[in-house]
Amino acid sequence: MKTALVTGANRGIGLELTAQLLEAGYNVHATYRSSKGGLDGFENSEISTHKMDVRNENEISNVIQSIESLDLLINNAGVADGRWQSISEIDMEHALEVLNINAVSPVLVTQQALPKLTSGSKVVMMSSLMGSISDCRSGRSYAYRASKTALNMFSMAMKNELDDAGISLMIMHPGWVETDMGGPNAPLSTKESVNGIMQRIEEQNMSLSGRYVEFDGSPIEW
Ligand SMILES: NC(=O)c1ccc[n+]([C@@H]2O[C@H](COP(=O)([O-])OP(=O)(O)OC[C@H]3O[C@@H](n4cnc5c(N)ncnc54)[C@H](OP(=O)(O)O)[C@@H]3O)[C@@H](O)[C@H]2O)c1
Repeated sequence: MKTALVTGANRGIGLELTAQLLEAGYNVHATYRSSKGGLDGFENSEISTHKMDVRNENEISNVIQSIESLDLLINNAGVADGRWQSISEIDMEHALEVLNINAVSPVLVTQQALPKLTSGSKVVMMSSLMGSISDCRSGRSYAYRASKTALNMFSMAMKNELDDAGISLMIMHPGWVETDMGGPNAPLSTKESVNGIMQRIEEQNMSLSGRYVEFDGSPIEW
């Protein structure tokens, strides 16, 4: 049986990923920051839930120590920014927090998980189209965009070492999805988005390592 770890699994895309991974026969370590949220609803014996703030090295270490080996790591947890409308509104403390959670913390989790990842394992970084510099036409979303661009570069900078270990890396845009973050006008349900993400995970292999891709398989320009 394959084993997966999903961060930010208590709601939104992470919760649906947990549901579909369980359906696909994975043993799932589902982590939540403070409240178990939707994770309370699962009765499947293949789920283990863990309290883990992705900024907290001790909490991450405790979770990783409880896992024998990992076939799939999904760095899904993330936050939006203050949706500031102008440069003068940017709150620097908040901007640093967004960079920490969205860009630095996935690196911390991957660093800690590395000893449990083996040849054939897969790492998914939940990025966004908003991290694409060439797609940044409307501007704004300053810290969120910058955090996802930084996540993309952190990921690509790790790629060679992961390649050497036989671990493939995927940088994912889940689409615009109806969650607390995506809002009610989003065209995609979590189910539709995660159906696609699951197919991308299934087909992922070493020759696809380092791709920046949408849930439906379309490649994204950096
Ligand atoms: N929805 C979209 O349209 C969209 C588009 C592009 C990319 N994405 C990306 O997809 C991922 C999931 O987004 P979503 O739409 O499902 O968002 P969401 O509904 O707002 O859920 C975000 C999840 O991240 C968790 N989280 C936030 N900060 C955390 C921390 N410090 N430690 C641990 N967990 C933390 C939240 O936990 P709490 O419940 O404790 O806050 C929650 O479980 C994010 O990385 C997001 O940037 C989403």
